[in-house]
Amino acid sequence: MKFIVCDTPNEIGEKIGQEIVALVQKNPHAILGLATGSSPLPTYAVVAKAYQEGKVSFKDVKSFNLDEYLNPPFEEATYRYFMKENLFSKIDIRPENTHFPSDKDPDEYDREIAAAGGVDLQVLGIGRDGHIGFNEPNTPFDSHTHITPLTESTREANARFFHSLEETPHEAVTMGLGTIMKSRHIVLIASDLTKVDAIHALLAGKKDLAWPATVLIDHPSCEIFVTKDVYEAAKK
Ligand code: GLP
Repeated sequence: MKFIVCDTPNEIGEKIGQEIVALVQKNPHAILGLATGSSPLPTYAVVAKAYQEGKVSFKDVKSFNLDEYLNPPFEEATYRYFMKENLFSKIDIRPENTHFPSDKDPDEYDREIAAAGGVDLQVLGIGRDGHIGFNEPNTPFDSHTHITPLTESTREANARFFHSLEETPHEAVTMGLGTIMKSRHIVLIASDLTKVDAIHALLAGKKDLAWPATVLIDHPSCEIFVTKDVYEAAKK
């Protein structure tokens, strides 16, 4: 696990965006694992710009998103919609090559990812409670894609995407920690101060079920991108 400290969220976006572009230039059939939330938005802007400038094509790329809400109150609240708005509609990825986990047969998602050849590069944000995807505290480190209840802390953090806390979903379907760990390369973004405790747990270097992201400590190729303010506060 390597920490990369940047001045701003945009600098993180520039670095990871360039990693994704370089990967797809080298391997036009790359498999991307993608995340939603505010953290990856600068990254997606860099990727979209590179496509618009003709530097890269995503026509043979496949994507697998980390998670999706169960019973979202309106279509615009779904992660599929978020991805369409913020990335897919701005690049030439084929809609049929974009995948999201489903509550019908969650485990099937792990098989689909494996059948596609496995994720080459997985993008992750991180929850204030250390969740990755929607793997809340005490999720087993070897878990597959599964349905999970959302903690009150996560619902409160995500209520900003809904009209009210009441409307915010109580459940989601998410890649498991074991699913995520199978990715060949992982980049995690922590670019705001609500993530300090979670990054502190990662810096402590000890796997702890209470902080799901600490599973990454064992990953052979994982970069943790943090802004300077987050890093300095997390070191204390
Ligand atoms: C949600 C998503 C996570 C994401 C987290 C942080 O809970 N399921 O995948 O990492 O939010 O979001 P943000 O980047 O907006 O802080």
